[in-house]
Amino acid sequence: MLEKIPCLDLKGQHQQIKKEVFDAFEKVYESTAFSGGPFVEEFEKNFAVFCQTAYAVGVNNGTSALHLAMLALGIGVGDEVIVPANTFIATAWGVSYTGAIPVFVDCTSDTWQIDATKIEEKITPKTKAIVGVHLYGQPFDVESLLAICRKHNLSLLEDAAQAQGARYNDIPVGGFGEMACFSFYPGKNLGACGEAGGITTKNEKYYKHLLSLRNHGSMVRYHHDEVGFNMRMGGLEGASLNVKLKYLPEWNNRRREIATRYQQEIKNTHIKLQYQPDWAKSVYHLFVLTTENRDGLINYLNENNIFPGLHYPVPCHLQKAYAHLKYKEGDCPNAEYLAQHCISLPMYAELTDAEISHIIKVLNAYKNA
Ligand SMILES: Cc1ncc(COP(=O)(O)O)c(C=O)c1O
Repeated sequence: MLEKIPCLDLKGQHQQIKKEVFDAFEKVYESTAFSGGPFVEEFEKNFAVFCQTAYAVGVNNGTSALHLAMLALGIGVGDEVIVPANTFIATAWGVSYTGAIPVFVDCTSDTWQIDATKIEEKITPKTKAIVGVHLYGQPFDVESLLAICRKHNLSLLEDAAQAQGARYNDIPVGGFGEMACFSFYPGKNLGACGEAGGITTKNEKYYKHLLSLRNHGSMVRYHHDEVGFNMRMGGLEGASLNVKLKYLPEWNNRRREIATRYQQEIKNTHIKLQYQPDWAKSVYHLFVLTTENRDGLINYLNENNIFPGLHYPVPCHLQKAYAHLKYKEGDCPNAEYLAQHCISLPMYAELTDAEISHIIKVLNAYKNA
């Protein structure tokens, strides 16, 4: 009998690299570089190279990355920013923290990414930017969003929190927008031993502004050019990310291998998988499917020792926090359908072949009784 298979298990990965990470922690400890410092700087350089961008700025989490990127774009009170309805709520927080208003757009019925054909009807004279989200690790329709941005003179921001190493037309995500925001939350494909985030950009002006914003609005100690924040990345987090970045391509490849097996071997008319356009090379942060009777499928999987996740059960436009924006059911039907019918299969590099075979076999025997 197989052990319980959770949606995500971080233990295997951390056992594998424990010695290397602890050696790196020791160096941080000996040098007392706990806040920012050389270990964070080394990670920033390595991550910028990994994303084929010029700069990376480490911060304390992915939500702060979105907040600071919005500020660097000059977004504030009275502005509107287009955000997908189907994303983790932090994508919208970045907008709200500045006093601007997130304007939610539905996803497509097959890629489950923002529907580019529904964006223009939401653009007003107040619109300043579009946030595309490489959700579940799969790149969004970059070209279509860039074309809309060029036409309406808007900025494109990438929310790449779930997509470290994903490729759009074989180019890594992180350099398509004015800036790209990453989360290094422990459960992400590249996750720190602690909370962390980052912003990549090719633009020196944004880079310099972000360095200041994350550090109390200061480039010279005790001189503050604007109201800033304490959003620096910690040294231990930077050091752990440096160790883990080396393994990321291998871990992402393993996720792709698992996803390919799911895609090729799951054969059940009650289950629908995410459509993947030719230009999208996903890193499968999540492997999401939809099914009509979600509770039935979850119970059945649990009975078979499989414990899927839900990403996400409530779309952003229907969250209580945004009730004042007066969206209603039916405004984003595809995102609403997804919220009610999605489940996320177990997905992490350390899943064994036997566990994957078990998940596939169980899904193929599902009868939707
Ligand atoms: C799409 C998306 N955006 C933003 C975030 C926020 O990142 P963090 O949890 O590091 O603040 C996350 C992570 O949870 C996310 O999945």
